[in-house]
Amino acid sequence: MKRLAGKVILVTGAARGLGRAFAERCAQEGAALALIDVLADAGEETARGLAAQGTDVIFRRCDITRTDELDALRDEIQARWGRLDGLVNNAALATGLAGKTFDQIEEANWDRVFQVNVKGTWLVTKAVLPLLKAAGEGRIVNLASDTAIWGADLFMHYVASKGAIIAMTRAMARELAPFQITVNAIAPGLTTTEATELAPPRRWQQYLDNQLVKRSPEPEDIVGAAAMLLSADSSFITGQTIIINGGMTLS
Ligand SMILES: NC(=O)c1ccc[n+]([C@@H]2O[C@H](COP(=O)([O-])OP(=O)(O)OC[C@H]3O[C@@H](n4cnc5c(N)ncnc54)[C@H](O)[C@@H]3O)[C@@H](O)[C@H]2O)c1
Repeated sequence: MKRLAGKVILVTGAARGLGRAFAERCAQEGAALALIDVLADAGEETARGLAAQGTDVIFRRCDITRTDELDALRDEIQARWGRLDGLVNNAALATGLAGKTFDQIEEANWDRVFQVNVKGTWLVTKAVLPLLKAAGEGRIVNLASDTAIWGADLFMHYVASKGAIIAMTRAMARELAPFQITVNAIAPGLTTTEATELAPPRRWQQYLDNQLVKRSPEPEDIVGAAAMLLSADSSFITGQTIIINGGMTLS
C-alpha cells in the first residue's frame, strides 16, 4: 500500500533541488500534487516528468510572498481536487546566498531572506489552512536547517530565518492541534542540490569531518522523513524537528 495514496499535497519551491525530490517521493507514495515555484520553466519540467509517470500533478508559477497568487492557488486546488491533505513548506532563499560576515550583510538582503523564508512560509500556510482544516486531518512539514542548531557562520540572516522556522513549527503545532493538523520540521545538513553546488569546499569538508556517517548526503537521504511526516504513520508526532545530517550535530 502506498503511504500517500488518495492524498493531495502542496510542495513549495518544487522546481528543483530538495523541493523536486520531495515531489518525486510524494508521487512514488501515490499522492496527487500541486507544485509551485518562481522558476516557471524548471517547475513545468518537474511536473511534466511526474505526469509522464502517471501522477496527477499541476505546476503553477506562484511567489510565496504574494497573497493574491496564493489565494488563487488555493481556489484552484479546491476546484480541482476539493481537498488538501499536506503541505511541504520548502521554498526559501537558501544555500545559493553569498557568504558574508554578519556585519557585511546588506539590510535589504536580510529583509528579503526573512520575507521569503519566514513570512512566505506563514503566508502559504495561512492561505491553504481552510483546506487542511476541512480535510479533517492535515500534515505540515516545514524546511528548517541544521545550521540553526549549530550556528553556521557567514549566513546569519539565513540561519536566523531557519531558527524562526523551528520556533514557528512549535507554535503552529500548538495552534493547529485542535484541528487534527500536525506540524513538524526537517532540518537537513548540507545536502547536494543545484544550490549547494555553490557552497565553498571548506563547508563541505567541515560537514564531512564532523558527520558520524562519512558521506555527502543526497536529497534521497532527506525525503523519506518527509514521506513519514506526511503519512498516517506520524499522527502522534507534532511540533518536532528532525535533524538529518549524518549525526553532524552530535560531534
Ligand atoms: N540543500 C541543503 O543543503 C539544505 C540544507 C538545509 C536546509 N535546506 C532547505 O531546503 C529547502 C530547499 O533547499 P534547496 O537546497 O533545494 O535550495 P533551492 O534554492 O534549490 O530551492 C529552493 C526553491 O525555492 C524557490 N523559491 C525561492 N523563493 C521563492 C518564492 N518567493 N516563491 C516560490 N518559490 C521560491 C526557488 O526558486 C527554488 O526552486 C530550503 O528551505 C532550504 O533552506 C537545504
